Amino acid sequence: MNSRTEVKTIPVEIDGFQMKVDKGSTILESAHNCGIHIPTMCYLEGLSPYGGCRICSVEVSTDGGKTFRVSASCTYEIHRPIVVKTDTPKIRRIRKMLAELLVASAPNVKLAQDIAARFGINKVRFKMEDNRCILCGLCVRMCHEQMGGKALAFAGRGPEKRVSAPFAIRSEICLNCGGCDSICPGKIIPCQGIKIPGELCGKCIRPDDMPFCCPTGTFGCFCENNPLEIVSQPR
Ligand code: SF4
Ligand code: SF4
Ligand code: FES
Repeated sequence: MNSRTEVKTIPVEIDGFQMKVDKGSTILESAHNCGIHIPTMCYLEGLSPYGGCRICSVEVSTDGGKTFRVSASCTYEIHRPIVVKTDTPKIRRIRKMLAELLVASAPNVKLAQDIAARFGINKVRFKMEDNRCILCGLCVRMCHEQMGGKALAFAGRGPEKRVSAPFAIRSEICLNCGGCDSICPGKIIPCQGIKIPGELCGKCIRPDDMPFCCPTGTFGCFCENNPLEIVSQPR
């Protein structure tokens, strides 16, 4: 082979499976392509990876499996041979902690509930809040990458971080296309739990179509329907 010829595939080991993947593809894509599930929160196929939630963390070794570092699989592009472990005790601990923080911050967002349930969380040790935005950034990327609107962006840092229109004024370049709204996980009614084993409850509808279950508009956050055991209440 001509030494200048670009290497197109890279040998990779994921959870003991040997495979060749396209150079530049991500660990997440490569794992999914061969049927290995990695949970995600802020990733959506068709939008650029953002790397915000770290729920997709895996252990990665670039020295043939001698040492490993934790990385977000959705943003990790493969450019050389690596060994990946997607489901170690350390990774499970990290994901569970992140899921607990997520559901404590936004107990009424269905995606947060789903992720917490998947990790078997039924107790929350952190102060419960009622955020409706989980800072997944899907709306921002949808606006910029699919709608060409550029009307949304992240603003602030740390606890002040939020999604906002530039200068907090509805932008003139907003197309009113509804793309941001349609993709937002905070707009899906949270799950009240499956009542009959084996059946789906079918409650995953838009909040506009369903009345609030309490006057404060917290969809059962602290009511008896909440599947989470509340160990701390907001002040
Ligand atoms: S409605 Fe406006 S802010 Fe939302 S995706 Fe469309 S252009 Fe962007
Ligand atoms: S507004 Fe919705 S889509 Fe946008 S970052 Fe918040 S939760 Fe995600
Ligand atoms: S899904 Fe990878 S960081 Fe959120």
